[in-house]
Amino acid sequence: MAIHIKNHSEIEKMRKAGELVGKTHELLAEHVKVGITTLELDQIAEKYIIEHGATPSFKGYHGYPATVCTSINDEVVHGIPGARTIEDGDIISLDIGAYLDGYHGDAARSYAVGNASDDAIKLIEITKQSFYEGLKYVKPGNHLFQISAAIQQYVESNGYSIVRDLVGHGIGQELHEEPQIPNYKPIGRGPKLVAGMVLAIEPMVNSGKYDVEILDDDWTVVTKDGSLSAHYENTVLVTEEGYELLTLHQ
Ligand code: MF3
Ligand code: CO
Repeated sequence: MAIHIKNHSEIEKMRKAGELVGKTHELLAEHVKVGITTLELDQIAEKYIIEHGATPSFKGYHGYPATVCTSINDEVVHGIPGARTIEDGDIISLDIGAYLDGYHGDAARSYAVGNASDDAIKLIEITKQSFYEGLKYVKPGNHLFQISAAIQQYVESNGYSIVRDLVGHGIGQELHEEPQIPNYKPIGRGPKLVAGMVLAIEPMVNSGKYDVEILDDDWTVVTKDGSLSAHYENTVLVTEEGYELLTLHQ
């Protein structure tokens, strides 16, 4: 039971894995358009990751069959790419992981396609901003659940709900390492943050209630009430000064 603190050479490798994930997202963002199938998006990402000397982190992970998780509308996470086409007004969440030189990067983005409702657009914005509200607390000496509390507070004060059954995670040589990172405040403070920890912070936000269920494919997580859901995630290094985003470079 330990949180792995990464040394300089590990951090350098995680920067590279993270950068590749960020760039794969930038590539897919150009292809998120009405009429494309989720499988086509998956194939574009897989080709790009492999061309860059990496392998998809999710493919084969507990039997997951694809490179990207493509989750549309009421699908929260882990939607499996297939023949479904993106339609006008959809919101789609793309979650991508890449494994490069022994280390993983992991990030998710949500997009509104075409003439999406104002509510859908606002949901995506609040979800992304909730990540940044949590990020404000990423620095050595703070405690993990300060991040959790900030995300929850922001989401709920905007009238949305934060999914409780799925959490963020430490990341490194394994896709999922300790600690688990809830997006709601548990009892206690959680572990103290230390420079060299790497955290995948990933709020999942529903426009209705927070309850979710899993479809018969054993992967796709959907909102129980059929409401819309969005997801935003980056791999974050804790630094002496605060943080560094490993999967996002602007
Ligand atoms: N970002 C998700 C996570 O870290 C993606 C996992 S999909 C899986 O949990 F297929 F790998 F499980
Ligand atoms: Co993740």
